[in-house]
Amino acid sequence: MLAGKRILLIVGGGIAAYKTPELVRQLRAAGAGVSVVLTRAGAEFATPLSLSVVAGEAVHEDLFDVSKEAEIGHIQLSRSADLVLVAPATADLMAKMAQGLANDLASTLLLATDTPVLIAPAMNVRMWDHPATQRNLALLKGDGVRLVGPDVGDMACGEHGPGRMTQPEGIVAACADLLADGPLRGKRVLVTSGPTHEPIDPVRYIANRSSGAQGTAIARALAGLGAEVVFVTGPADVPPPDGVQVVRVETAREMLEAVQAALPVDAGVFAAAVADWRVARAATSKMKKEAGGLPSLEFAENPDILKTVSRMESGRPGLVVGFAAETDDVIAHATAKRDRKGCDWIVANDVSPATGIMGGSENAVHLITGAGVEDWPRMGKDLVARRLADRIATALGAG
Ligand code: CTP
Repeated sequence: MLAGKRILLIVGGGIAAYKTPELVRQLRAAGAGVSVVLTRAGAEFATPLSLSVVAGEAVHEDLFDVSKEAEIGHIQLSRSADLVLVAPATADLMAKMAQGLANDLASTLLLATDTPVLIAPAMNVRMWDHPATQRNLALLKGDGVRLVGPDVGDMACGEHGPGRMTQPEGIVAACADLLADGPLRGKRVLVTSGPTHEPIDPVRYIANRSSGAQGTAIARALAGLGAEVVFVTGPADVPPPDGVQVVRVETAREMLEAVQAALPVDAGVFAAAVADWRVARAATSKMKKEAGGLPSLEFAENPDILKTVSRMESGRPGLVVGFAAETDDVIAHATAKRDRKGCDWIVANDVSPATGIMGGSENAVHLITGAGVEDWPRMGKDLVARRLADRIATALGAG
């Protein structure tokens, strides 16, 4: 399952660390090479000797071990791995990761790595449920960190609930899932999603209707095919998918900035319902009724993100996919939109209220490419997403 893969295992300081020699044994039995980093607290529960025997190589313990640093720098240690696995991931290690601390070998490696990271949390149920841990977990998920467990069960401390580290076989299976070779492995894809909110004053805004459901499903499907996904989202109704890098924005101008910062990418999918206009001069304090009269708003045009990226002279993504939500003459409007904006494909749909598509779970789209128009049957938004992700993989020569 893991033949030819190298896993960097970081062992945190929890009672579950006693299972890590067995975890290393199973990872190696599945074909992986394993480098082990043992935190100081981890060494209280698992010995360097037992771990080095099962790993078949020396265990790394100290950031400032000069002799080892000369042989294999800590940056290289993290870069040479296909996957960084943190097991057990304690509340303390998760907090360090979420804050980007780098004060020992484990945390430094985690900050220096650009390989996928999988954590197997293990801690007391109250520590797991604590808002601070849940906050850190949300931050880590937003950074694209993947999670296996924790399982529910009896704990060493005598309590019952979520917090047990997943058994070694479950962790090995999660590693295999994460490293499975999808057709988009090695490709970087950008997805915009959700509405943008353009402030009128600190409490009021204008926006387009958008739940973010279709964009979220597309990001999930692309990640499922192995792509590295940067998900730039306005304030949507649905939570972002796991395993993608989430960049949250409010306004169209912030979205453009986040998109430009995410480049270069192999493909960009622009599913966001960006507000075309913003209020030229948003009030900095709440507009009061007592002031009398009716407010009149002056609008300014927002940047067209899809058009800006489509028309880039250098660094344009190889494939740019736009969306067109129309209420009449869907194909004609969408085809004109493709030409006007300069994108490669347009996914067009009819969002007139009678279709029930806006805010619903289904979609009926037409894919407009340089080769013509394809009418896809009405199906779930997740199926539309998977079909589109497959087409993107094929277009990038990876399908
Ligand atoms: N889009 C964008 N930036 C904008 C407006 C739209 O990136 N400021 C993108 C959307 O994400 C979508 C596509 O452009 O992929 C089509 O958006 P739409 O609002 O339908 O196009 P408009 O140019 O605003 O045309 P219309 O006159 O129909 O509103």
